[in-house]
Amino acid sequence: MQVDIAIIGAGAAGMFCAAEAARRGKSVLIIEAGAAPGEKIRISGGGRCNFTNLGIAADRFVSQNPRFALSALKRFTQWDFIARLDAAGIAWHEKTLGQLFCDDSAKDIVAMLVKDCEDSGATIWLRTQISDVTKGANGFDLATSRGAVRAKKLVVACGGKSIPKMGASSFGYKIAEQFGLALVETRPGLVPLTFAEQELEPLKPLAGVAVTGAVRCGKTQFDEALLFTHRGLSGPAVLQISSYWREGQAISVNLAGGVDTAAHLRDVRGQAGRIALRTALGHILPERLARHIEGISGITGNLADQSNASLDRVAGLVQDWQMRPVGTEGYRTAEVTLGGVDTDALDARTMEAKAVPGLYFIGEVVDVTGWLGGYNFQWAWSSGWAAGQAV
Ligand code: FDA
Repeated sequence: MQVDIAIIGAGAAGMFCAAEAARRGKSVLIIEAGAAPGEKIRISGGGRCNFTNLGIAADRFVSQNPRFALSALKRFTQWDFIARLDAAGIAWHEKTLGQLFCDDSAKDIVAMLVKDCEDSGATIWLRTQISDVTKGANGFDLATSRGAVRAKKLVVACGGKSIPKMGASSFGYKIAEQFGLALVETRPGLVPLTFAEQELEPLKPLAGVAVTGAVRCGKTQFDEALLFTHRGLSGPAVLQISSYWREGQAISVNLAGGVDTAAHLRDVRGQAGRIALRTALGHILPERLARHIEGISGITGNLADQSNASLDRVAGLVQDWQMRPVGTEGYRTAEVTLGGVDTDALDARTMEAKAVPGLYFIGEVVDVTGWLGGYNFQWAWSSGWAAGQAV
């Protein structure tokens, strides 16, 4: 089979790019290893797909060069994607922090993308393995389980390593390496953090406890919910910080959000000095957590017995609990893969490899990783759109 454009991967970026290119009159073939297109879209956002965010900005992306993404993000914006949904009759709403979700189902977005491919004339091959990619004088030759494909241009849109059981693979990185493109080291992002057994043991009774607090690592802080798990910490604030955390670093956990714990404890001591520390902490923390903090503080007796210094120490435990994760839950549960194809190797306007004319990389395989909250899909749409105009 001979086509203008072959795209590897029928995910968010690949399908979006395919329809754009096909609308420009190109013959387009998407080659997908899995049994269905857009599987990550389908399961995303608890089945409602957090498809973009109103607050798109360079500082919400982790990359060696966060400004690289801006060109594509400004040329195809969140409002452009919203207009596509509106035109397709897909209702949506803002949940929190600018995060937009489908009212009904993420499957509506998958169906829209598949229909866009069909209507524009792009073909999708499912359950197709690619065993070899080479470049010759007339374009790219792909050896696939459905036979040979020759394409004038090749777009790599096969995502990152996250959730291997859904078909995630390292294929995109391998192609980049094969053609001599630099890679930024990959690691799991937006992923729960884990603790070593001896630190985890005393935390085990807290599994399932959630608070709206904050987590800091270095200079980066996220004020959102966090959750104690059987292996460590999760919840939006922890997933966010995981993209900044490096092995060996400590994180600071604030369990009380905006509450001034020291002032609260002094107030309660003034008004009702006979109550126990855990009772006073229970005004601002879930009961299990209040008991735990009392336990590790070593404080016994009533609040009235405590000095200001003791109460300040307790406040420190609540608002600046230093914890040292040992690792993450890894690609098994990570929402995204950090790192990937070095943006220096790509043209920010077209996503084409500077040193390999006709070869493009879009979506998660590139070293551009968004925060939790719709940023990653917007990058998939924007980079897919940019390549779709250029191929
Ligand atoms: P994507 O992974 O979507 O697509 C790649 C495609 O390539 C897949 O269909 C795969 O099967 C295929 N492929 C892989 N190897 C291949 C090979 N060798 N040959 C052929 N095909 C191959 N983001 C967000 O913004 N909002 C959200 O709500 C969520 N929620 C969410 C939940 C969960 C559980 C996960 C795991 C991830 C999210 N994300 C998210 C992240 C988001 O899913 C991700 O950033 C995008 O899907 C990336 O789009 P891509 O098209 O680059 O890759």
